[in-house]
Amino acid sequence: MPRMHFSLLFSDTISLALGVLALLTLVGCERGGFGCETAPPPGSPVAVVERYECNRCHSALAQPTQTRAEQGPFEGGRLELAEQDRSCTGCHNALHDGELDEEYPAEAITHWQKNVVHLIDVPTLTGAGRRFRRDWLVDFLRSPHDLRPRLEATMPRFAMPEKDARAIAEYFVPTSTGAHEAVDLSQADLGAGRAVLESNGCTSCHAFGGVEGLKASPVPVEMEPEALARAMKLAPDLRYTRDRMSPAAVVAWLEDSKKIKSDSLMPHIPLSETEREQAAAFILRAELAPVARPEMPKRLPVLEREVRYAEVEREVFKKVCWHCHSDPDGNNGDGGPGNTGGFGFEGKGLDLGSYEAIERGRLGEDGERESVVEPGADGVSPLVAHMLARHAEVAGEPVEGVRGMPLGLPPMSMEKIQLVETWVAQGARQ
Ligand code: HEC
Ligand code: HEC
Ligand code: HEC
Ligand code: HEC
Repeated sequence: MPRMHFSLLFSDTISLALGVLALLTLVGCERGGFGCETAPPPGSPVAVVERYECNRCHSALAQPTQTRAEQGPFEGGRLELAEQDRSCTGCHNALHDGELDEEYPAEAITHWQKNVVHLIDVPTLTGAGRRFRRDWLVDFLRSPHDLRPRLEATMPRFAMPEKDARAIAEYFVPTSTGAHEAVDLSQADLGAGRAVLESNGCTSCHAFGGVEGLKASPVPVEMEPEALARAMKLAPDLRYTRDRMSPAAVVAWLEDSKKIKSDSLMPHIPLSETEREQAAAFILRAELAPVARPEMPKRLPVLEREVRYAEVEREVFKKVCWHCHSDPDGNNGDGGPGNTGGFGFEGKGLDLGSYEAIERGRLGEDGERESVVEPGADGVSPLVAHMLARHAEVAGEPVEGVRGMPLGLPPMSMEKIQLVETWVAQGARQ
């Protein structure tokens, strides 16, 4: 598999020099010259970020107001989207914007544009160091949860030891102070804060899970319909803001979100200083009722009718799974994160792109091939077990040792799972 091209940019020549110097001291730069740049010391924050391939879905612009001391040799937080043939969001966006390069036929592009819905809108990580608490990020990376009710894709559930999560969090949140200096909101009027949210369009975009009866008002500033739709999709549920941001960061966000995150999608809504403090206090301290998680749906009995491979291929494997479990030949050796590896996973050697490939199964712990079709000790086919586990993750009850599939994407409907179960029960025929 070719080494992926990944460039974390250095802010300027000084930090470039510092970075190269740090590399020289730490690894002796065996490859010599500027080649060192592509081989950061193993275990360093930048190397860990590279290993988990965050830049296949996220980018992060520079944080211009960070001081040199805050930046450190690698300048916290900057991330350039991976090349188009590796980047899930990069390629999906290019497809939508009609900018997919190379020689794809026009009819194919029109057909694909209709099919691609996920991993187009993904939040950027710009200004993460000024927005997030480092400890929140560590927890989120190790046990992600849904942050945006209108966005279907979620952060993938990685297999990430705490050490790696800490290194990544250090990269994106290089200083635990920064914009996080204290502001005192203890005197702010929560009732008035609620009114600020209700009368300034905030709740047209933001959910606030666990806060009952919030009224909505129209967004008070003019926005292009597309920008508005995108901002509505990417507005975080304010329930989690208290875990993510300090009071000072929330107040600063409400004053000018672009100063915190230069590519912020939130429109500027003018508020007085008092209103900002009241709104921040309400966001950070409003009483939260528990939120109901979606229930684990009931499993459906196998169908009476015959189900052959062509149907499960069309409805399940080629529709969704194949995009991470494909044939590495024909794609420069990249069979996707679930086959040849990616996102920090070594890959299970599982190709779900054809009948023969599915028959070959996955690589087990001992390097031997194992069936993903035949029921395991629990009486359930691994294909089905991993799809059910995704429902369990969404219901907030991840299954120990069984990662939900499709990874980070909405669970397959119970009808589709039923289809696969029926196909398996009938002997997984071609
Ligand atoms: C397959 C795509 C994918 C990959 C790879 C990925 N993420 Fe994400 N990430 C997402 C999506 C989608 C969301 C939005 C989730 C939500 O809102 O519920 C997200 C959200 C986040 C957030 C919250 C941002 C915000 O503004 O709320 C952080 C922080 C984050 N990711 C960090 C990372 C890091 C660090 C890595 C690498 C270790 C990474 N992500 C890899 C898809 C991805
Ligand atoms: C080089 C371009 C390209 C890259 C890179 C790419 N995709 Fe796609 N993706 C496509 C196209 C084109 C389709 C539509 C295929 C079709 O309709 O048959 C698609 C469809 C999908 C679908 C099914 C439609 C949907 O929106 O649910 C999923 C899931 C998906 N891709 C996931 C990923 C993930 C995860 C990655 C990163 C690991 C990725 N893709 C990287 C081009 C790409
Ligand atoms: C048009 C939609 C829209 C409106 C209206 C809006 N926001 Fe936002 N808001 C967003 C988006 C999108 C983000 C995330 C920005 C990004 O990641 O680029 C955001 C982020 C935030 C955050 C950071 C939360 C976190 O956990 O990261 C806070 C706090 C916030 N908004 C408060 C408000 C308040 C208060 C109002 C009303 C005065 C408001 N917003 C109005 C779209 C909106
Ligand atoms: C976004 C990428 C992605 C998508 C989409 C995806 N997978 Fe996976 N899959 C992975 C990764 C990564 C692994 C390896 C996980 C690990 O090592 O724990 C994996 C592993 C698996 C395994 C083996 C698990 C094990 O522990 O041996 C099965 C079975 C599986 N996937 C089934 C599916 C099915 C069925 C679908 C479609 C419904 C699907 N996957 C869609 C990324 C994906």
